[in-house]
Amino acid sequence: LACVDCGTELPIGAAFCFACGRAVVTAPAAGGARAPEAYTPNHLAEKILASRSALEGERKQVTVLFIDVSGFTSLSERVDPEDVHRLMTEAFELMLAEVHRYEGTVNQFLGDGIMALFGAPIAHEDHARRAVLAALGIQRALAGYREDPLRRRGIDFQVRQGLNTGLVVVGSIGNDLRMDYTAVGDTTNVAARLQQVAQPGSIVIAEPTYRLTAGFFHMRSLGELRLKGKAEPAPAWEVMTAREARSRFDVEAERGLTILVARERELAALWDCFEKARAGQGQVVFIVGEPGIGKSRLVYELRRLIGNQAGWMEGRCVAFGRFTPFHPLIDLLRRKFGIEDGDDEQTAIDKIEGRVVALGDDLRSILPYVRYLLGIDPGNTAVSSMDPQERRGELFHALRRLVLREAERLPQVMVFEDIHWTDKATEDYLALVADNVPASPVLLVLTYRTSHSHPFGERSYHNRVAPGALSAGDTVVMAGAMLAAERLPDGLQALIARKAEGNPFFIEELVKSLREAGSIRPGGDGWVLTQRLDDLAVPDTIQDIIAARIDRLPEASKRALQAASVIGRTFSRRLLDRVVEPHASTETPLRELVGLELIRETRVFPESEYTFKHALTQDVAYGSLLGPRREVAPSPDRDGDRGPVEGPAGRAVRGPGAALREGGDLGQGARVPHAGGRQGSAGLCHARCHRAVRRGRGNCRPGAGGRSPRDTDDHPPPARRALRPRERLRSRARRVRERVATGPPEREPSRRRRSSGGDGAGVAPGPSLRSMPRRFPSGGRDRGGHRRSLDPGRRPTERGVRLRGHRPPRGCPDEVQPCPRPKPSDRGCRQSGDRAGLRRGTRKLGRSLCAGGRAVRRGDPSRPCPQHPRDARGHVHGGGQPYRTGRV
Ligand SMILES: Nc1ncnc2c1ncn2[C@@H]1O[C@H](COP(=O)(O)OP(=O)(O)OP(=O)(O)O)[C@@H](O)[C@H]1O
Ligand SMILES: [Mg+2]
Repeated sequence: LACVDCGTELPIGAAFCFACGRAVVTAPAAGGARAPEAYTPNHLAEKILASRSALEGERKQVTVLFIDVSGFTSLSERVDPEDVHRLMTEAFELMLAEVHRYEGTVNQFLGDGIMALFGAPIAHEDHARRAVLAALGIQRALAGYREDPLRRRGIDFQVRQGLNTGLVVVGSIGNDLRMDYTAVGDTTNVAARLQQVAQPGSIVIAEPTYRLTAGFFHMRSLGELRLKGKAEPAPAWEVMTAREARSRFDVEAERGLTILVARERELAALWDCFEKARAGQGQVVFIVGEPGIGKSRLVYELRRLIGNQAGWMEGRCVAFGRFTPFHPLIDLLRRKFGIEDGDDEQTAIDKIEGRVVALGDDLRSILPYVRYLLGIDPGNTAVSSMDPQERRGELFHALRRLVLREAERLPQVMVFEDIHWTDKATEDYLALVADNVPASPVLLVLTYRTSHSHPFGERSYHNRVAPGALSAGDTVVMAGAMLAAERLPDGLQALIARKAEGNPFFIEELVKSLREAGSIRPGGDGWVLTQRLDDLAVPDTIQDIIAARIDRLPEASKRALQAASVIGRTFSRRLLDRVVEPHASTETPLRELVGLELIRETRVFPESEYTFKHALTQDVAYGSLLGPRREVAPSPDRDGDRGPVEGPAGRAVRGPGAALREGGDLGQGARVPHAGGRQGSAGLCHARCHRAVRRGRGNCRPGAGGRSPRDTDDHPPPARRALRPRERLRSRARRVRERVATGPPEREPSRRRRSSGGDGAGVAPGPSLRSMPRRFPSGGRDRGGHRRSLDPGRRPTERGVRLRGHRPPRGCPDEVQPCPRPKPSDRGCRQSGDRAGLRRGTRKLGRSLCAGGRAVRRGDPSRPCPQHPRDARGHVHGGGQPYRTGRV
């Protein structure tokens, strides 16, 4: 509890501020005692509870809104406390309604104000816009409410609001929806301070919120404000009013669009549909694509192409309009009749009548329905008192007549954008229009994102246009056009191509953020890079879109995606299986993620491998995880093997590596992935851990993570395990030796034949494991200062054990891979005569039987691995690396 006047922290239950003496008024009925479940709307509560466990412990980008009803406190001295209490309760109800309208969550009741979060626990791609809209709604609602007490009892009060955007960590969410959260940085502080400095009745926003919402609202700069507790003054803006119903694309268009690249085919298809519609064969076109791929841009370009050859009607669905029946239809009609926000009822009625009657006097009968839909008095009591179902039917009929009458004069194009956010009532209307289109000169264009499937069935006059990703060349052209440069530095070209993956919106936002961050600047005869671009932060706009998309996933899919993001851009199914919760099947989640085009299956044989479609999706999924969840802890595989797991062949496994780099605690500033002492947590990355320890000259200190007191040895447990290969390798080595001694199992006759075949290829047993030390010795460096624990010539016939202090030669996979077992696929290859497939299988076995830089072959047991350099004395360096091309 804090004093609203001087901000002094007060104990709960204080009646007066002990600093300034101001009376404290709280609102027990509206807040404090009530749990959030009591005032959170059902649909929101269900949504939060359904995905509660997937939401807990995540970083979220949110907009924080602080509201304070100023004036009540001083009133409590003059007016009966009961009256004040009642007034405040009503005011709180109004505030709550507005916050919930935009799917915000009221997180705290603060004396005579509230704190609300938008974007947490459930992420919204437009949380900043929603928060400002809610603030404006509260301002409007309380302005109306204020009139009555003011007139009757002279009680005046006003509301001050402050907003800021930034990161919070969502903690636990209780059954009653109470959410613990931790602000990252001072996001909430700044919002609270802005609310304190705001003039009564005004809304003040900080810069991060301004950057996300400028263009959607009329705002006024307040210059730089000095905020309590902040050393530097902070720029702030006052929000005045919302602008006309606008989409992100409208805002972009107003700032100036980038030149259109590619899309000739899509525009030709759209034009073709228009031609058919113009000729009287109405068409429906669905423009489908992922966020930012250019659906709205295609609609915009189509409109430019058509010009005044047709009438144009456009309605937009918005993410927070799903609970408002007919929202897009109302939007369409308001645009059509030119009704603006500030218009009073009579002006709106005049505008509607003027436009409708101009089409024919007989259309007067539809006026009451149109007025009713637009929330204006229909002027006909029969319409207001009609049965809702019957009224809906009449309404549809009225709108149909309106459109058809227009179409008699000029072909009509009706556009509904983003129907994935449409409400049920509008969907019914669209289904009706879609069915009635073929016999009239009407082109119905509907856009939606790939995650949605429309309910309009399949018809011969349905068309689908699906803009795909831009090519690398087009990406460079687009980025070059934005920067007005003929040529971009190679590093920049590569970065944009890699990160944006041909998504025009991503390209735009990346270029903008590079420019704003000063990572590129004009110089020479184009642009020059001013810093390394490897660790480019994901721009907020992209982050919000992707985070909201991830939050809409079912819990299992979301978890799988997050776990995959830790592994890397590319990951194998087998590895993912071991990283996600034990015994949870990843089959359905993966299928779902592929269906939603978040990942792609890039390899099926010898095992399924997937890749994130967008590098940015991986970045956002990874970024939402807190430190401990970024450290994967593979569970034993199906055979109970807790040993190391395989990363994508020949590619670095990023996640654990990233954890190692970021943790800053082990050896060379690396931390060993650790998950509360779970067995096998070091498995995935023990080779890296090993290397980190070696580089750190064995100076391995315990890292963060809940480890037990006995883990205070020289090395934290994962590192110890990594440095104690003996146990881990024993079972595997036994398998190898068995295979060496007995030959391949019965079910592999062809392999056996080959191993004793004329080319002499085969395997030779390696030395006994007994020759291996139990622990990586503390001394024993070679002249170069590298650790040498083992003689390369006395190494077990086991691959992947890197016991020497040399980096692997280029091209060697540096992850440890398990010894392969015969796979059903091998049998399949044999049966089907797929020699290439079989060769791949045997090559893999060969890989596993190389050690000490020697390819182990019958008759030539010490043949050097060509990928491993030797020194002048012929010693093999970088021992234990897999020999990638060996045959057995
Ligand atoms: N082919 C293109 N050439 C140049 N710029 C493009 C192209 N396609 C889209 N853009 C730009 O990319 C940005 C995003 O495009 P747009 O808003 O059309 O995406 P969208 O698919 O409608 O996304 P959402 O699903 O979020 O509505 C816009 O600024 C647009 O001008
Ligand atoms: Mg769009």
